[in-house]
Amino acid sequence: MPAFPQLRMRRLRKTETLRRMVRENHLHVDDLIYPLFVVPGSGVKREISSMPGCYHFSVDTLVEECKAVRDLGIPAIMLFGIPERKDAAGTEAANPEGTVQRALRALSREVNTASDAPLELITDVCLCEYTDHGHCGPVINGEIANDAALELLARVALSHARVGATMVAPSDMMDGRVAAIRTHLDNNNFSNTPIMSYAAKYASAYYGPFREAADSAPQFGDRRSYQMDPANGDEALEEVRLDLEEGADIVMVKPGLAYMDMVRRVKDTFHRPTAVYNVSGEYAMVKAAAAQGWIDERRIVLETLTGFKRAGADLILTYHAKDAAQWLKD
Ligand code: PBG
Ligand code: ZN
Repeated sequence: MPAFPQLRMRRLRKTETLRRMVRENHLHVDDLIYPLFVVPGSGVKREISSMPGCYHFSVDTLVEECKAVRDLGIPAIMLFGIPERKDAAGTEAANPEGTVQRALRALSREVNTASDAPLELITDVCLCEYTDHGHCGPVINGEIANDAALELLARVALSHARVGATMVAPSDMMDGRVAAIRTHLDNNNFSNTPIMSYAAKYASAYYGPFREAADSAPQFGDRRSYQMDPANGDEALEEVRLDLEEGADIVMVKPGLAYMDMVRRVKDTFHRPTAVYNVSGEYAMVKAAAAQGWIDERRIVLETLTGFKRAGADLILTYHAKDAAQWLKD
């Protein structure tokens, strides 16, 4: 192998053409999934204060937004719902007439009209938006009950699939939920509905703005008895392995920036479709610094998203998706 001065790494960095030719990773619009929030009512498009550029949409305005998302070439949305009522168990989550279910019917009818390349309608399957205490499962004897959550989560997933969800994404971190959902979907003629599992989901402070957006902050305690300890890496691989064994089609690492190492380890270990969630707190920090004029938002966002690709992500859930899709065209 030659060394300096025969070898000069800078030779291939000289022009943009050369840099393009030797570029190893490319961000593409096909990699993006856009998270959206649907609320009750009509004619609503209300900006979420801690997530500038993101909105609460009612079903009618969500339809228009999703047409714009589709027209940008973004292949998928991740849908979160804010319900009309909450209770201790979160039963409203499986209501066939709930906010998310009504949104899915409208999107199937008005956006995915006879299309062989539909906008993928992925739904977040969790109970924290629907429980009055804000936890991701029912509280029994002061603990977040695992097995009692499974039955309801499976019914929620089926209620989504029945009205047009083309993929479901459990985010609760209960043990056994992927298997429970897979079995229930299979037993009800939805064996072709894929599951994207929030497989390695950490108990993170980066979810702060989302909890305001989804009105899902826990009313007591925190999520550390079900979400992962940020200090652990090997344990995340075990979570991913179990979810794949239970039937997950796509596995996710969440959050993104502080967990890029886990994206790489998951991809290298399992070689399966791997997603990363560039979460609300990561988005809020970029937007706040950009609003101050302290960073170049466009360059920062494209650099970050390309970094996820380099780390091994196949798919990126990001609130920057619409901007990124537009910038990739410019
Ligand atoms: C629900 C859920 C959360 C997020 C996605 N699904 C919040 C949480 O677990 O508290 C976070 C998304 C984000 O911060 O952008 N379980
Ligand atoms: Zn939850």
